[in-house]
Amino acid sequence: MKEQKGQNETPQPDGVAIRVENLHKSFGELEVLKGIDLTVRRGEVVCVIGPSGSGKSTLLRCVNLLEEPTSGSVTVAGAEVTDPDVDIDRVRRKIGMVFQAFNLFPHLTALENLTIAQRRVLRRDKAEARRIGRANLGRVGLTDKEDAYPAQLSGGQQQRVAIARALSMDPELMLFDEPTSALDPELVGDVLAVMRALADEGMTMLVVTHEMSFAREVADRVVFMDDGVIVEEGGPEQVVAAPRHPRTRTFLNRVLDPAAAHVGEVPDGGPHDARIDR
Ligand SMILES: Nc1ncnc2c1ncn2[C@@H]1O[C@H](COP(=O)(O)OP(=O)(O)O)[C@@H](O)[C@H]1O
Ligand SMILES: [Mg+2]
Repeated sequence: MKEQKGQNETPQPDGVAIRVENLHKSFGELEVLKGIDLTVRRGEVVCVIGPSGSGKSTLLRCVNLLEEPTSGSVTVAGAEVTDPDVDIDRVRRKIGMVFQAFNLFPHLTALENLTIAQRRVLRRDKAEARRIGRANLGRVGLTDKEDAYPAQLSGGQQQRVAIARALSMDPELMLFDEPTSALDPELVGDVLAVMRALADEGMTMLVVTHEMSFAREVADRVVFMDDGVIVEEGGPEQVVAAPRHPRTRTFLNRVLDPAAAHVGEVPDGGPHDARIDR
């Protein structure tokens, strides 16, 4: 990853990229996050796994204040985003976000999708934005697609454009929310390969995923969430390969062998439906 030294950079001597403390989030009566504590250090890859409805997306959305936490604190890249006086746009610029849906502009080419925010938000001139955009299309293996429109690209290629778009903003860290869940199975591998390369380059990544092989091979840490709490957290060799908590085991059995799900199994994670959202 390119080192970005903006004039407003907050020093992070403790090496922490994301710190979430006692985070609660309710939607009306529904308490979705029930006291989450999570630290992601710079350069770390943390995968969040857990059943549908457990609060994974809400957690990610609280990290970049797409949702306002009900209580608790969230610090990102040295700035407390839950501080009412924070310049949230400045903090958000440091966070690359990749969702399940690619959200590309259909009327713009791949390269134009990469340059528009650079020009508007970072005020880069056209030539520089195109140069940086092309470099990032190269990083995701799509050099030859710069003039293609989203409709001319496969889902996997569109998702790689979305990753390149996020990278073009020089993020300090990246949040991924099930980036491969909407893809046909044969297209998942190319997207995961790009994410793996980013991880190898030292990018700080918080990734919600159901791709257990990715979590096992790439994550420094895996966090299992269920019903608004972190049930289990540790290295992938522990959480994925040798889970301690019965809820983690039940979940992993379902993900790793979906055909065998429901047989004699009662969701033990609470009142919500424990489907896997893919
Ligand atoms: N904006 C919202 N308003 C009301 N309820 C919401 C909203 N966003 C999420 N929820 C609810 O919060 C719970 C957790 O959702 P979510 O964070 O998307 O879970 P996950 O990503 O783990 O599937 C679900 O019950 C969901 O319906
Ligand atoms: Mg989700």
